[in-house]
Amino acid sequence: MKLDWVTALAVDDGPIDAQHQELFRLYNLYSTMPEAELDKAAILAKLAAYAGTHFQDEEDYMQAIGYPVQRRLAHAELHRAFVAKLQTLQDAPLYQVLDYFQEWLLRHIISEDRQIKVFLEPPRTR
Ligand SMILES: [Fe+2]
Ligand SMILES: [Fe+2]
Repeated sequence: MKLDWVTALAVDDGPIDAQHQELFRLYNLYSTMPEAELDKAAILAKLAAYAGTHFQDEEDYMQAIGYPVQRRLAHAELHRAFVAKLQTLQDAPLYQVLDYFQEWLLRHIISEDRQIKVFLEPPRTR
């Protein structure tokens, strides 16, 4: 399944939204590449490296905007667990890695990253 970025997924921070879109682009690229062109180790390394850079940026951003510290640390822990899980999939078939990557990323953006936006929204006035 292709990952399509839609505005409902926006965190409303330009760089973070652009990084999420780049992660979608990488997933779509690798999941549709002819098998003969796939270098699993290189793809895993690229996904893990880009995700790692993104996680650091996102955690720095959360800190910069004063996101509640306990929630930020719990969020960072989810990032660490994802990277660790990717490492355990080194020997799995690439489609399994990509399936896991896609499922985790989409769920994480919807349920976790979007809270950054909710946190920034001004309280509703009566
Ligand atoms: Fe995140
Ligand atoms: Fe993210």
